[in-house]
Amino acid sequence: MENRKKIGVLDSGVGGLTLVKELEKLMPNEDIVYIGDNKNCPYGNRTADDIVGLTKNMIEFLKEQEVKIVAVACNTISSLIDRYGNDYEFPIFGIIDPASQYVVDKEVKEVGVLATEFTVNSKCYNRLINEKNTDIAVYGEGSRNLASLIDCGEFDMEAIEEDIKLHMVNLLERCDAKNIILGCTHYPIVQDLFEKYGPGINFINPALQQAKKIKSYLEDNNLLNDNPNHCYNIYTSGTTDTYEKLLKVLNIQTPFDIKTI
Ligand code: DGL
Repeated sequence: MENRKKIGVLDSGVGGLTLVKELEKLMPNEDIVYIGDNKNCPYGNRTADDIVGLTKNMIEFLKEQEVKIVAVACNTISSLIDRYGNDYEFPIFGIIDPASQYVVDKEVKEVGVLATEFTVNSKCYNRLINEKNTDIAVYGEGSRNLASLIDCGEFDMEAIEEDIKLHMVNLLERCDAKNIILGCTHYPIVQDLFEKYGPGINFINPALQQAKKIKSYLEDNNLLNDNPNHCYNIYTSGTTDTYEKLLKVLNIQTPFDIKTI
């Protein structure tokens, strides 16, 4: 049965678990198969061709697991969705489009985007927001290091905080945004540190909007799973320990199995 198929989730590393958390909250009966390419993370410092090639390998892997849809949790990979998003028989959901729509619906005057340098340089958030409302000023600020500092699993909080402080100061020097998109899957994991350097700011986690969009697609197409005996199968090209740590930190309740591939 089509609705018993899994939701495929891909990311360059562990960050996509922030999407898994939102999917679990909204659709607790779904099976998820996750792939994180930790060996090749960070994607944000790679070329576009490189990212597309690595992404297609991950989608092929998910295709073999018989998924009903694929969710691209990674903002960096989503900024290139036009280069692979229509090549498969199942729909592929990026993360940038739903978060951009949310900002447009909120009718904000200006919005900050903290993300990898690749995502910021792609101007994908600017394009998708300004396509719908040219009056919203979008200010990007990219980090070369933050995603890998979180992905490596050592959680060097001093180095993480230093990087967050630097980029928050840079961003807030250029704008007075009251709304900032955490435009990298890894960033909501350390949201409290962003809040420390931006008190009163509304930090937007794009994974929430993406999970809502996926739920409404599955509902509209009678594809929601009703099986309570489900589990999450997690595959990584790196080591499993960061996943174990983060699944606990995010308080993910569903039974899971993690394998290195
Ligand atoms: N997960 C990626 C994102 O959301 C960032 C990590 C990376 O650079 O690989 O943009």
